[in-house]
Amino acid sequence: MKEERAQWSSHISFIIATIGSAVGLGNIWRFPYIMGENGGAIFLLTYLILIAFICVIPLCCELAIGKIFKTDTINAFYKINPKFKWFGWLCIITVILIPCFYFVVGGWILNYIWIFLAHHIPDNFTRYFSSYSAEIGMPCFLTLLFLVMCAIFPYRGVNSGIEKANNIMMPLFAVMLIFLAIFAITLPDSQKGLEFMFTPDFSKFNNGMILTALGQALFTLSIGMGVIITYGSYLKKDTNIIKSAYTLIFFDTLIAVLAGIMIFPVVFSYNVEPAAGATLIFISLPEIFAKLPCSVFFGVLFFILLFFAAVTSGISMMETPIAAFIENFNISRKKAAVILSVIIGIVSIPATLSFGLLSSFKIFDKTIFDLLDFTTSNLLLPFNTLIICLIAGWSIKHFSKEIFKNKIYNKIFDILLKFIIPIVLLLVLISGLK
Ligand code: PHE
Repeated sequence: MKEERAQWSSHISFIIATIGSAVGLGNIWRFPYIMGENGGAIFLLTYLILIAFICVIPLCCELAIGKIFKTDTINAFYKINPKFKWFGWLCIITVILIPCFYFVVGGWILNYIWIFLAHHIPDNFTRYFSSYSAEIGMPCFLTLLFLVMCAIFPYRGVNSGIEKANNIMMPLFAVMLIFLAIFAITLPDSQKGLEFMFTPDFSKFNNGMILTALGQALFTLSIGMGVIITYGSYLKKDTNIIKSAYTLIFFDTLIAVLAGIMIFPVVFSYNVEPAAGATLIFISLPEIFAKLPCSVFFGVLFFILLFFAAVTSGISMMETPIAAFIENFNISRKKAAVILSVIIGIVSIPATLSFGLLSSFKIFDKTIFDLLDFTTSNLLLPFNTLIICLIAGWSIKHFSKEIFKNKIYNKIFDILLKFIIPIVLLLVLISGLK
């Protein structure tokens, strides 16, 4: 039986939920380590320019497609032209593949909350992390537990599940983040961390940085897989798209910068390598927390913060395919949530085991976890975003009028959408293949 299509109960709920989707491990885990590896402030500057002038275009496209067609991703593309239905499916496949590795990290976060809470703090986090992630039972169990936590809210519905979860978790998240950032600034060598973030060294600029920053921006804004189309489809008619897009960009960037302010002063005060890479959060930072006077307090607070960020993103990853299943298979929301959870559960187990039992099982020289991450972030996201821009620009008549009423702005938007952005995205894609 088909349920009536939900609508956000207020504009602020929509903004909070979209920020909840956008703000995730991408901001707190990926952004700081990528900035650390790419020279700090100069990367931040490049990123800010790209997100404000380039990424805003596909973001507006997804919001507008959602708002105009008021349906799930697959039907939205079908309605534009039945020829494009396959592309709707590709978006859905992309958004199903992402949680298959993202939730593995969610499981690690649950484990870290537990070890700090239970005072089981290891002496050496490098050794601990590699031996824990190689285990079978606990990591698999926690990946599945994290999956259930993300599925439960969309299972309950848009208003009583998704809105409520975001309205509670996101403000708590903001308070914790601000508290930890202020604490970091008070550390003795915080100045060095802030300089690293805010004083650009132009000699470190390189072309590869532009592409890395763009890939990161697409991932963090949840663009290229229909998430924003789905959340946009619950929008009221009179919503101003460009204003919503910039509000989202503003908060997403603010949170990524705050995450940097929380992490880099700590990193510099304790002489950790800022370019430590993906392990910055699971090895370097916990090691520092363990040395602090209130180690349990800071450890738990930090990982709960990470948990909220990851769950609110996870919810949007579940909601997008659920909305598509409801409309296309004509099943109830609850049934759709269960089917999707089973699919993600089955694929996420081998991804979890990529760090132990299946670590030598490689396809194209990548473990299952790495393959899922690489295929989605480096290939499917830029590819899908490219197609979304081309479809919006070339197949929807007077599309730019949905975004701007002013004629000059319309023209500029059209040129960007039809030519400039597709070329830039093509470059990202080619560099991602290398
Ligand atoms: N934007 C989220 C983050 O930064 C990731 C995400 C990807 C969310 C895909 C939804 C869909 O962590």
